[in-house]
Amino acid sequence: MNIIKLNAIDSTNSYLKELVQKSVLDTFTVVVAKEQTLGRGQLGTTWVSEQGKNLTFSLLIRFSDFKIQDQFYLSMAVSLGLISALKQFVGVSLKIKWPNDILAEKDKIAGILIENILRSSVINYSIIGIGLNVHQETFPRNIENVTSLKKISGTIFNEDELLYSILNSIKKYVKFIEEEAFEGLKKMYLAELYKINTPAMFEDKKGVVFLGKIISVDKNGRLVVELENETTRKFNLKEIKFASR
Ligand code: BTN
Repeated sequence: MNIIKLNAIDSTNSYLKELVQKSVLDTFTVVVAKEQTLGRGQLGTTWVSEQGKNLTFSLLIRFSDFKIQDQFYLSMAVSLGLISALKQFVGVSLKIKWPNDILAEKDKIAGILIENILRSSVINYSIIGIGLNVHQETFPRNIENVTSLKKISGTIFNEDELLYSILNSIKKYVKFIEEEAFEGLKKMYLAELYKINTPAMFEDKKGVVFLGKIISVDKNGRLVVELENETTRKFNLKEIKFASR
């Protein structure tokens, strides 16, 4: 594994994206930064992380024949790799909140941002950005329901050790993609999904609150929710959120 360590950068995802376009990089090249000045989250949000307290890194994977329509399986593999590595470090309940947030006791502890570089109809490279809250104990007031490994366990962690076990674990799950073992990935992902098969209140994009139960995700990564009348509805990101925790 080729690991590039930086003190500060705008965003490790942006840096790696530029680097791969102007040089030849090995698959599994990693960029880790102590500080990001413009950390990016999903859907154009920002990722805020206190300098030197957390893990913020991006991982490059090169694929030979990974179809765009299968991209959600990568999201599954990365979430599974991350959650199973974290389970070796802390004993609390960890879950994947669809599509790929990692929750520790219902609070967000890590986020994932995957950006793909395409070559005609296949994914040539994926840049997998991970922000994991490790030692940060106080968060800005506008960021709610977040936690860190230190907050939930009271322990100090060796960040290199954490990073290596996360990377090795992700590597293990990415193998399933290379072998096109998509159904196996989906089964493991659903087993870790927050509130699966549990009645919960949701809110749709129009603000309508309804009772439903997550029963699956489809191959495009949409969330499949069973409604009270036993029909199902599928939701894309931004089209649904939990109305309660
Ligand atoms: C999210 O939950 O919204 C995704 C957050 C992803 C944050 C990480 S930190 C390292 C990498 N570089 C970025 O700019 N973003 C990702």
